[in-house]
Amino acid sequence: MKILATLAAATVLMFASPLLRALGPQAGPADLDAHLAAIQRDPRQYDASWKLGRKVAAVCANCHGEGGNSTKPGVPNLAGQNAGYLMEQMRQFSDGRRRFEFMEGMIKAMNEDEKIGMVLFYASQPVVQQPVERRELAARGQQVYLGNCFPCHGDDGHGQATIARIAGQHPEYLVARLKRYRSPEGSRANPQMVQRARMLSESDIDAVAAYVSSMP
Ligand code: HEC
Ligand code: HEC
Repeated sequence: MKILATLAAATVLMFASPLLRALGPQAGPADLDAHLAAIQRDPRQYDASWKLGRKVAAVCANCHGEGGNSTKPGVPNLAGQNAGYLMEQMRQFSDGRRRFEFMEGMIKAMNEDEKIGMVLFYASQPVVQQPVERRELAARGQQVYLGNCFPCHGDDGHGQATIARIAGQHPEYLVARLKRYRSPEGSRANPQMVQRARMLSESDIDAVAAYVSSMP
């Protein structure tokens, strides 16, 4: 019975995906997640989608780097990022909860298949380790991390589902993001992160960023 129910659910998803594609931009956020999940379950669809994603990523490499390992301090790594988190950020750039004009435009220009391919491609890429600098600051940052961050981002900083992987992220980007969550203008207003970031002093932010960026 259990197997039958699983098969039935998988079949519904398989038939649902071309339908969603036909619906195009009208398909709601949950539908995009269902479409992603269906592709993840089917090796052939996964392969085709990943290859499309690799093509999309060539457009993004100028800023986000080869395979999503950015070499520009203000631009985040996308390599190894969690699929659910990437989907959620695309949603936030589209509906105005996260403001950054250039990225809002890029996301609007992508169709549903390109978005899913991009997510699968980047999520599968290995993260290039950052050079470990400022060891003393990082050691203090570890205390901040263990006190405030690990319940959600995990012991290893890899996050989960819609919680970002932050391990190995550029320190400058981490500092800028934490300050943005703290700021009242709300250009990034996730309530969980706003609350945590407001508990940190400027020096806590520098320290935790040094530690998190050094994590593999
Ligand atoms: C001109 C440089 C530039 C290009 C090209 C670019 N991005 Fe970005 N991207 C950025 C910057 C800068 C940010 C950080 C924005 C912010 O601070 O909110 C960003 C953020 C993101 C994020 C959120 C990452 C996170 O950790 O939260 C995603 C996802 C993303 N970009 C995807 C893409 C994709 C996909 C493409 C190609 C289709 C692309 N970007 C092309 C500069 C760029
Ligand atoms: C209660 C759960 C929770 C805790 C605790 C938490 N975070 Fe987060 N964090 C999240 C979620 C959820 C997101 C994604 C938010 C969004 O969509 O804007 C996030 C996003 C982030 C980002 C943005 C990543 C990116 O690529 O742009 C950074 C940086 C970050 N967290 C750092 C921290 C640090 C440092 C701490 C500890 C001081 C911390 N977080 C504690 C849940 C949490």
